[in-house]
Amino acid sequence: MKARKIGELTVSAVGMGCMAFSHGYGQIPPEGYSIEAIQNAYQHGCTFFDTAEIYSPNLSGTGHNERIVGKALRDVRQGVVLATKLFLDRSEVRKDGSVYDAVRRHLEASMERLQTDIVDLYYLHRTGGVSVEEVAEAMGLLIEDGLIHGWGLSQVDVGVIERAQRVTPLTAIQNIYSMVERDVEKAVIPYCLEHEIGVVPFSPIASGLLSGKITTETKFERNDDVRNWVPQLSKANIAGNQPIIDLLKQYAEKKQATPAQISLAWMLHKYPNVVPIPGSKNKERIIENLNASLVELTDEEFRSLEAALNQCKVYGHRGFTR
Ligand SMILES: NC(=O)c1ccc[n+]([C@@H]2O[C@H](COP(=O)([O-])OP(=O)(O)OC[C@H]3O[C@@H](n4cnc5c(N)ncnc54)[C@H](OP(=O)(O)O)[C@@H]3O)[C@@H](O)[C@H]2O)c1
Repeated sequence: MKARKIGELTVSAVGMGCMAFSHGYGQIPPEGYSIEAIQNAYQHGCTFFDTAEIYSPNLSGTGHNERIVGKALRDVRQGVVLATKLFLDRSEVRKDGSVYDAVRRHLEASMERLQTDIVDLYYLHRTGGVSVEEVAEAMGLLIEDGLIHGWGLSQVDVGVIERAQRVTPLTAIQNIYSMVERDVEKAVIPYCLEHEIGVVPFSPIASGLLSGKITTETKFERNDDVRNWVPQLSKANIAGNQPIIDLLKQYAEKKQATPAQISLAWMLHKYPNVVPIPGSKNKERIIENLNASLVELTDEEFRSLEAALNQCKVYGHRGFTR
């Protein structure tokens, strides 16, 4: 698979979001299946894997997903880039005395679960009650300690990115981005391009909407499935967004690809610093998504797709941005 740079890290052009093996999209698969799915993705050329300390069934407990990712990739650790994330609560910092101590404690627990002595990309999952400058300083010290290669922020605006960047240069920003969630195009991606920061879109297939396989009749699972409350997946919004799905299907037919692949190929063509991390708990779809890196849009195809997309009204949003 083609490679891309995010900061100093070299990764496959499409990465893999591992969250759904533990949380977010209904019943989780047996652990053995999840491990095999991750190993298959690696065999297929994926070298960029995304997890977080919080990804556990129903978000209760810590580290379920990191343990699976650690087991799956321990034998090929040198060949992959591991990204994980922490949440930090101000109360932990008061107890510990310093932001560095608190972040380091989270990191060490993640490293143990991931079976590694260095995390390649360590994100602050959300800016909480701790100042981003203090977190940036702690991340800089952890880079000096040799415990992380680089760091990132998730779901942030340019104001926060600038403040962090002034303290410790960022490797990547992980924000929501897809054909139906384009806020980052206005300021975040241009800033990242200018400062050589990678952009790692989460929910790049809009929680499955852009695959064209979700219809107004689709029933989501009741247990731990975010699609029940994602506003973009209400019946009215699925129907409203149908012209975008039709557009993707038209290009998919023309390019002998799938709608999900076209949606990923679109963002890969548009920006050189973007590395999407589609998530799936299905072995075949994981490979389908990785193969989006093989779908080459010509400049002309991209321009006409973009122009048609710009004519479509987007109904609803994923639920993280507002
Ligand atoms: N930083 C953050 O705050 C944040 C938030 C959310 C997610 N993330 C990360 O980003 C990753 C991706 O996010 P996401 O899982 O929401 O992305 P996504 O790929 O847009 O959505 C996943 C959903 O789409 C379906 N899907 C994926 N590929 C498909 C395909 N080719 N055909 C049909 N359906 C398909 C999956 O169903 P199946 O499983 O049935 O294939 C699943 O229900 C996560 O795994 C996680 O690592 C980060």
